[in-house]
Amino acid sequence: MRLVVTGGAGFIGANFVHTVIRERPDAHVTVLDAMTYAANRASLSDLPADRVDLVEGDCAVPGVVDDLVSQLAGPKDTVVHFAAESHNDNSLAGPGPFVHSNIVGTYQVLEACRLHDVRLHHVSTDEVYGDLQLDDPAKFTPATAYNPSSPYSATKAGADMLVRAWVRSFGVRATISNCSNNYGPYQHVEKFIPRQITNLLTGQRPRLYGSGANVRDWIHVDDHNSAVLRILAGGERGRTYLIGADGEHSNLQVMQMICELMGATGTDGDPGFDHVTDRPGHDLRYAIDATATREELGWEPQHTDLRDGLRRTIEWYRENRDWWEPVKERVEARYAQTEKVL
Ligand code: NAD
Ligand code: TYD
Repeated sequence: MRLVVTGGAGFIGANFVHTVIRERPDAHVTVLDAMTYAANRASLSDLPADRVDLVEGDCAVPGVVDDLVSQLAGPKDTVVHFAAESHNDNSLAGPGPFVHSNIVGTYQVLEACRLHDVRLHHVSTDEVYGDLQLDDPAKFTPATAYNPSSPYSATKAGADMLVRAWVRSFGVRATISNCSNNYGPYQHVEKFIPRQITNLLTGQRPRLYGSGANVRDWIHVDDHNSAVLRILAGGERGRTYLIGADGEHSNLQVMQMICELMGATGTDGDPGFDHVTDRPGHDLRYAIDATATREELGWEPQHTDLRDGLRRTIEWYRENRDWWEPVKERVEARYAQTEKVL
């Protein structure tokens, strides 16, 4: 089995490549990655060189994906498309790269898969559905209408629509998955959980947007990727699969867990973290109903204890300072331009 993994030097893609190399002895992986600020070669450096190639290239540039996809010919050969600009805060500061990578990039991936009749799995997000009220008993299902809020989620929604159209109009053999918020090793320090952990590891105070009432449905990255592997093995062409592990927690709860686990909970009324300026248009709540994925593909998440997953993630950031330290200062300097302590 030959896989082309776009965005494989980013957080979820790199974890996916590790899982594939560990669990599929027959697999060879070619990572295609533009090596943006979000990529890190070190995330792949301990993998066997005879089973993983890293090609630096922008999937939105005509011909780049095509060159790699034209080499795939086996019945199980697949493109797994993770590449995207992925951070909401950056999409508010500058949406251009999001349109380029998420929409034009997906278009080029689709055209290559169409031309060479190669199977595609497109990795997307639950954020395409917009947000839910805190007290809404409903969760997102594959039938929920798209209603994205930010340039990030709007460009991911646009990409999903292109995939659906290429399936219907051109018969492209594609599946889509929409997953909830991931956490785990190799996640960029701009994102919520690693930002707080590395703030504490560098003697800075963690930062909670607004009151912290916003809810995210956390899933460990290995559970996301085990679901993607199930979809590659048994997913039906044209179908959308939702991936989530019933991990709803408010940002305040997650922040308190991180502070507790790292021995940073404050005393005398000081919570140990700062409330800072809220994100404009901040989605209130995401929640996934993954029943169909569980029942049809026999998938079950394995890492459903968030506290335990956070403990292991904290350990990883403690032990891998070389991986994140070089970019930490720049990320915090950027946040400092707009963020104010409330
Ligand atoms: P990430 O930002 O950590 O990694 C993205 C990778 O894509 C980077 O290595 C980057 O260099 C690469 N990339 C960006 N533009 C590219 C281009 N034009 N050509 C080639 N490579 C390019 O993101 P992530 O968190 O690993 O997310 C991966 C995918 O999963 C994205 O499609 C994202 O929308 C989706 N997703 C993420 C989450 C989450 O919680 N992080 C949840 C659900 C879905
Ligand atoms: P993030 O990791 O950016 O993911 P997403 O925007 O895709 O949900 O943020 C997760 C939640 O954490 C989101 O509600 C915004 C909030 N947040 C903070 O409270 N503080 C922070 O420093 C960051 C980066 C995010």
